[in-house]
Amino acid sequence: MQTGPHDTIALDVLLTQSRRHGLGTARPELYAQQRHGIIQRSIPAILGEIVNVLIVYGTTEGQTRKIAERVAKGISDRGHSVELHDSLEPDAGLDLETFHAFVLAGSVHQEQHQKAIKNFATAHSERLNASPAAFVSVSLSAALEETRSEAQSYVDRFVSLTGWQPRMTLLLGGALRFAEYDYFQEQVVKFIVMRRGLASEDGSDREFTDWHALDSFIDDFLERAKS
Ligand SMILES: Cc1cc2nc3c(=O)[nH]c(=O)nc-3n(C[C@H](O)[C@H](O)[C@H](O)COP(=O)(O)O)c2cc1C
Repeated sequence: MQTGPHDTIALDVLLTQSRRHGLGTARPELYAQQRHGIIQRSIPAILGEIVNVLIVYGTTEGQTRKIAERVAKGISDRGHSVELHDSLEPDAGLDLETFHAFVLAGSVHQEQHQKAIKNFATAHSERLNASPAAFVSVSLSAALEETRSEAQSYVDRFVSLTGWQPRMTLLLGGALRFAEYDYFQEQVVKFIVMRRGLASEDGSDREFTDWHALDSFIDDFLERAKS
């Protein structure tokens, strides 16, 4: 895994805590490997405190990126280590063994999550199934109680396609961003919002994301990842 300044700070915190727990002196070879970033994944398991999280997201118009960034900030603000990865970017440089927990996030277009996030989940299903790993599914169907079963059906399909069974799932409302749509997309969205009665009076952009629900989800996720 590539290490940046954030990782260095996180590793220093870990090493300070290792010393406090006597790990540096009891296991000098482990301590040296930690310093070189070789076995970062085992650190949270040892300390039971700091979790190293990988967030991978798929987005088409940008709302899921905004959500993934909020999750990353929430995790980092709570004192944990986090790396954010766009599923469209090559993942060859990512070593999943160095992470202790995972959040995948994707949005729904015509009843499907992004191909890139499906591919990532499929390629790494074994590692994800063996870890504390959560899925955030962003759609307009998730915004209304009456259509939440539809939002759940998108996730069910994602799970059966990828073979990854997330330990936690969050259905989250997305956004309407008319400036981002071409003619075809605009017609599809108009049809969706008409069916769901979600359109604003003047047809302008609207955000349906429940940020409080997302913050509670971050707390629950970290609790589970630490245990
Ligand atoms: C062309 C198009 C098709 C969509 N299809 C669905 C759909 O089938 N079901 C749904 O609940 N939401 C649908 N949506 C709503 C998106 O899931 C929502 O706008 C979301 O915020 C997009 O997230 P993103 O900005 O991260 O791509 C669609 C949106 C667009 C533009």
